Amino acid sequence: MLKILVTGATGNVGREVIRLLLNQNCHVCAAVKNLDNAKQILGSNVHYIPFDFTNSNTWASAFVGVNKLFLVRPPALANVRKDIAPALRAAKQAKVEQIVFLSILGADRNSFVPHSKIERYIEQLGIPAIFLRASFFMQNLNTVHREDIKTRGELFMPAGNGKTSFIDVRDIAAVAVRTLVEDGHSQGAYTLTGGEALTYYEVADIFTAVLGKPIRYINPSVLSFVAQMFARRLPLSFVFIMAAIYTTARLGLADSITLDVEQLLLRPPLTLRQYIEDYQQFWQ
Ligand SMILES: NC(=O)c1ccc[n+]([C@@H]2O[C@H](COP(=O)([O-])OP(=O)(O)OC[C@H]3O[C@@H](n4cnc5c(N)ncnc54)[C@H](OP(=O)(O)O)[C@@H]3O)[C@@H](O)[C@H]2O)c1
Repeated sequence: MLKILVTGATGNVGREVIRLLLNQNCHVCAAVKNLDNAKQILGSNVHYIPFDFTNSNTWASAFVGVNKLFLVRPPALANVRKDIAPALRAAKQAKVEQIVFLSILGADRNSFVPHSKIERYIEQLGIPAIFLRASFFMQNLNTVHREDIKTRGELFMPAGNGKTSFIDVRDIAAVAVRTLVEDGHSQGAYTLTGGEALTYYEVADIFTAVLGKPIRYINPSVLSFVAQMFARRLPLSFVFIMAAIYTTARLGLADSITLDVEQLLLRPPLTLRQYIEDYQQFWQ
């Protein structure tokens, strides 16, 4: 039976991948850093394997007999050579046959992002791989921005009038599972976007309509956004990454739409309205 190891199993995408793989005819293993936390999120019906990208003692046993690896780069691990590459070498040594890597929109054009370095390193190792280059997650709105929306009724991000082709992580997970369990996806890249690109003014209007209370888009300058985030004592690196991401949207570089999700799932991508309806308890 196909053995699939899922990293980032407690994260936004990984938990959905686990949920879907449990209904497939395969042996699914959740590679987790913190077992207690994982059990709280995924329950006790899952086969857990201890795994930490930064702890070499965990790699060999995690990769034993694994045919396919769903690879998620933890956002805090930015030094690919030091933090990710050694575990990938262990996967190669263990003869992992294929990697499906959660990458980012534009990784093929921007060699500075860690995802681009990981893609190139996997190619260098010669492990057949699918790169899922995903656009901005809808689920950032119920994680990073949850409190602003819930308590202040505000969308506070410096994205100007730029549009974003938001994708629901449930669609990314559905694509990941198809590429992991179906034949015919051994190598290549898919660019995963939603079916529409929206400004944050439009996002605020959809929130207002679905939640039945006013949600405003504040549209701060990048400087006042950074100052506000510092005032909230968020980590420096996180603030700069957020500023960079929203500047990309501001410059109109986050609005591309592809048909990959629809072609792979044989249905349109989930819409932002659908997402807000499904997740509305997060902002109530
Ligand atoms: N947010 C977006 O809009 C967006 C768009 C495109 C691509 N991406 C990329 O997607 C990835 C993040 O995916 P996500 O949002 O699904 O993940 P996430 O929710 O940020 O969760 C991170 C996962 O990594 C695990 N982890 C943390 N440190 C680890 C370590 N040292 N060893 C092993 N596992 C570790 C965490 O486990 P614990 O729970 O045990 O800490 C958790 O399962 C990033 O590479 C990001 O750049 C994000």
